[in-house]
Amino acid sequence: MKFLPAAFWLFLLLAVSTAACKNGEEEFKPLRPQPAVESGEAAQNSGNEDFGTRLAEYENPNRVFWQKPELVISMLGDISDKVIADIGAGSGYFARRLAHKARRVIAIEIDPQFIEFMDSIKRVELPQELQDRFETRLAEPDNSHLKPGEADIILLVNTYIYIQNKEAYLRHLLEVLPEGGKLVIVDFKKKKIPLENPPQSLRMPLYVLEQQLEQAGFKSYTSYDAVLDYQYIVIAQKDAKTDE
Ligand SMILES: C[S@@+](CC[C@H](N)C(=O)[O-])C[C@H]1O[C@@H](n2cnc3c(N)ncnc32)[C@H](O)[C@@H]1O
Repeated sequence: MKFLPAAFWLFLLLAVSTAACKNGEEEFKPLRPQPAVESGEAAQNSGNEDFGTRLAEYENPNRVFWQKPELVISMLGDISDKVIADIGAGSGYFARRLAHKARRVIAIEIDPQFIEFMDSIKRVELPQELQDRFETRLAEPDNSHLKPGEADIILLVNTYIYIQNKEAYLRHLLEVLPEGGKLVIVDFKKKKIPLENPPQSLRMPLYVLEQQLEQAGFKSYTSYDAVLDYQYIVIAQKDAKTDE
């Protein structure tokens, strides 16, 4: 498994992307929870989800229409001199795009299969100068393995709801962010949308996320509830003096 050639992963990506489309229309099943990091009933229900199924969901070509990755990335501002950590990078849907714009991207994952996938895609898809700016990093559920001050912006897309101890994790992120650094969380609105995953029971209302940010010590944040139809975007900042 560890040494499968890049061509295999490319073939798999093409195959699952094709399979994700039915008569040219999107099957609305994106972003199924990652089994290893779920809790309770949801974890048991999706315990048999295989890598290929999740990959197909993350890389669904029609995802671009509701996810609007370029619009989300534009909200990070000028990132040409920034280091971005994409936590829960999955297949690298955002990290690969960020690599074209940021000074450096650290794609962080707890699933070694996605690390291997991103490493392979990176080698075959990105030119050498971009490969050098794209690092994958295996993390643990409660530790991003980011060093203090290493990333100017930390991005979590469709991942926050799967973090188990959210307050402790937010404190950890606040600790590793430099002063003025940003935490950007994109996740699903808890309202009726034409997507079946993640299920309503796993989604988090925006106000709860805001409360958790405040409890963890983030004093400044701005929430954008209307930029994307299905998701909110919250941009929190580490103030110069967080302990006052
Ligand atoms: C629904 S996917 C989203 C992937 C990607 N951000 C995207 O939008 O396509 C969630 C990903 O987060 C990863 N994940 C879950 N908990 C994590 C944690 N504590 N640290 C790092 N990655 C995590 C899972 O392995 C999974 O690949």
